[in-house]
Amino acid sequence: MDVYGLIGNPVEHSLSPPMHEAGYDHLGIDAKYVTFEPPRGAAVEAVESAATLGVAGLNVTIPFKQAVLDAVDPDPLAAQIGAVNTIDFATDPPTGYNTDASGVVRALEHHGVTCEGVAVVVGAGGAGRAAAFALATEGMTVHVANRTAEKATTLAAAVDETAGSAAGHPLSAVPSLLDDADLLVNATSVGMDEDRSPVSADALHADLAVLDAVYSPIETRLLRDAAAAGATTIDGAWMLLYQGVEAFERWTGRDAPVAEMNAALRSRL
Ligand code: ATR
Repeated sequence: MDVYGLIGNPVEHSLSPPMHEAGYDHLGIDAKYVTFEPPRGAAVEAVESAATLGVAGLNVTIPFKQAVLDAVDPDPLAAQIGAVNTIDFATDPPTGYNTDASGVVRALEHHGVTCEGVAVVVGAGGAGRAAAFALATEGMTVHVANRTAEKATTLAAAVDETAGSAAGHPLSAVPSLLDDADLLVNATSVGMDEDRSPVSADALHADLAVLDAVYSPIETRLLRDAAAAGATTIDGAWMLLYQGVEAFERWTGRDAPVAEMNAALRSRL
């Protein structure tokens, strides 16, 4: 039996175990997915211990995504982003990937949204960083806007230097940036368990695709406003799903059963 898992602190509410196990069940793969909660500061020891124990693959969540870089060989995108959320122990040293980034692109593709034109990413934390690098790597012009504007400027400079075209802005620039945009990504926590949106409704329009990283609630205020404006809407569960799908495929070498994994995830949201 292969063991896969997640390290994070906390991890008890993770939806990854049922999502991955639905995939193993459907394909008849003899595997388990378990959660581990190492102490903060023990990222490298956790990865080394997993390797020693023969764990086949690990997902990594807060607060360990940066620190595990010291225990893996990151692929080019994960190295640029400076964060790893998926570790494959088939190599020595283990390989680190950032499937949060590829998950953004695959969530868009699933909805027929091609990564062309102009993207506005609101938020410059971990999710914003993955989205900005992913979309610039795909060739989009990326505008990063953040409440703390310096963080947007710093992130955009890093993206612009290594991945593609990007610029940083304060949040107040978002309405005018959206005039010419094809895609809006909310990578802030605004809207999580609250009926608030990071973007005013009248800035949204029918030529936009809107991806919200927030998945609780599944239909956020932003997505309701976007639907009312005629925009294409993509909820945060698609990002969660596709980061998992991409990890599943890297570990098993098989096409993930996306519909079954999606059903397992959504039945628990
Ligand atoms: P994650 O890893 O999920 O991206 P994070 O690193 O804590 O989480 O980042 C949270 C993001 O939400 C940041 O961009 C944060 O803005 P600041 O950098 O200014 O803190 C943004 N955010 C959180 N609360 C916000 C609010 N009330 N209004 C606007 N942005 C907010």
